[in-house]
Amino acid sequence: MTSSEFPHLFTPGRIGSMELRNRVVMCPMGMLLGNDDGTVSDNEAAYYEARARGGAALLIVGTVCVGYPEGTNHPRMPGASDDRFLPGMQRLAEGVHRHGAKLAAQLNYMGVYATCDLEAGRPRVVPYDMAQPNPEPLVGMVTRDEAALMMAPFRSPDANFAWKVASEDDIERIVDMYADAADRCRRAGYDGVELHAGHGYIIDEFLAPRNQRDDRWGGSIEHRARFLLTVIGAIREKVGRDFPVWMRINAFERHHEVGERFEEQLQVIEMAVAAGIDAVHLHRVRQHRRRHRGHRLVRAARARPVAGARGSGAGAGCRAGDHVRSPRARRGGAGARRRAGRLRRVRPQADRRSRSAAQARRGAHRRRAPVHLQLSLHRQQSRCASRCTAW
Ligand SMILES: Cc1cc2nc3c(=O)[nH]c(=O)nc-3n(C[C@H](O)[C@H](O)[C@H](O)COP(=O)(O)O)c2cc1C
Repeated sequence: MTSSEFPHLFTPGRIGSMELRNRVVMCPMGMLLGNDDGTVSDNEAAYYEARARGGAALLIVGTVCVGYPEGTNHPRMPGASDDRFLPGMQRLAEGVHRHGAKLAAQLNYMGVYATCDLEAGRPRVVPYDMAQPNPEPLVGMVTRDEAALMMAPFRSPDANFAWKVASEDDIERIVDMYADAADRCRRAGYDGVELHAGHGYIIDEFLAPRNQRDDRWGGSIEHRARFLLTVIGAIREKVGRDFPVWMRINAFERHHEVGERFEEQLQVIEMAVAAGIDAVHLHRVRQHRRRHRGHRLVRAARARPVAGARGSGAGAGCRAGDHVRSPRARRGGAGARRRAGRLRRVRPQADRRSRSAAQARRGAHRRRAPVHLQLSLHRQQSRCASRCTAW
């Protein structure tokens, strides 16, 4: 990777009020390096400090559990549900700041994936009845009964494979958890929070078209987005307008027949921006087809005008003409060049369509705060910044 391929990568960036020394961001990854009670371990603090020393601008701690131990899928995941987590969180933030990097927590409540609830005998709280013959949502390949049988020997006698469709009270309780956890991160010295609104966790399952609840939390896209928007509102109320808050969201779900589609996700982004987020971390899930290499850049470019991004502070990766061809495509054979060519043709069209649609929807008004889009670089493109994200 050379600086001419990514000319903005080592220039300063900004997310809301957070200034960044460059645009290298470590993706959220649940590393399970914490203590068994969800507090920060020495090992975990050293891991993040080492990455800050390496020069990245922003490190995102993956899946920080807002309801720990509820809504969690491993005891060593980081908790942020109580002040007993504060000393460790403060230590982690100090270590990262010592080397000039910024730190954010990715807030999450895991819903159907909360195996700690399963193990403790608590029904997992989910947005809608997720029963389906095959695959069972928790393990993805077998039926629900088969999954229960498979897991039985590994689970405590109290284990409960059931889930509970979230009631109004559950929703209110979980929204409060998000707001409290965000505020705890702020008090611990974290520089921002990312809401995990993708990958099948609770916010995402509210967003998915599979959520056909017949109350105000499901059905139409406005109703399905209500949970996310309520969480954003509650967080803003607690932490104020200046604390950086953004979300990670799926661009689409190719692996679900009834799955999220990009055009609808753009609407969700627009609503979330209006509700007060500062950036969008756009992601795809389970997209393995090689011919789509670069698709995220195309989609991010399309999402950018919808999100209201503008100005030189906005994502370098999202500008028309940037990064369309991977270094591999440039070096590669006919197949790679064909793929790159296809991306080059798609992009300007896509840009034009999305910009005019977004302008029509917004009545040509732009949102006050610039919004940044982060783009995960493919591994081949980021050999020297492994597992990092640039935008
Ligand atoms: C060990 C591991 C844990 C991960 N945990 C999380 C997580 O907690 N939250 C999240 O949003 N993504 C998580 N991811 C996904 C990464 O953030 C990233 O998207 C993924 O490594 C794919 O990289 P790419 O987006 O550049 O293709 C995890 C990935 C790995 C390898």
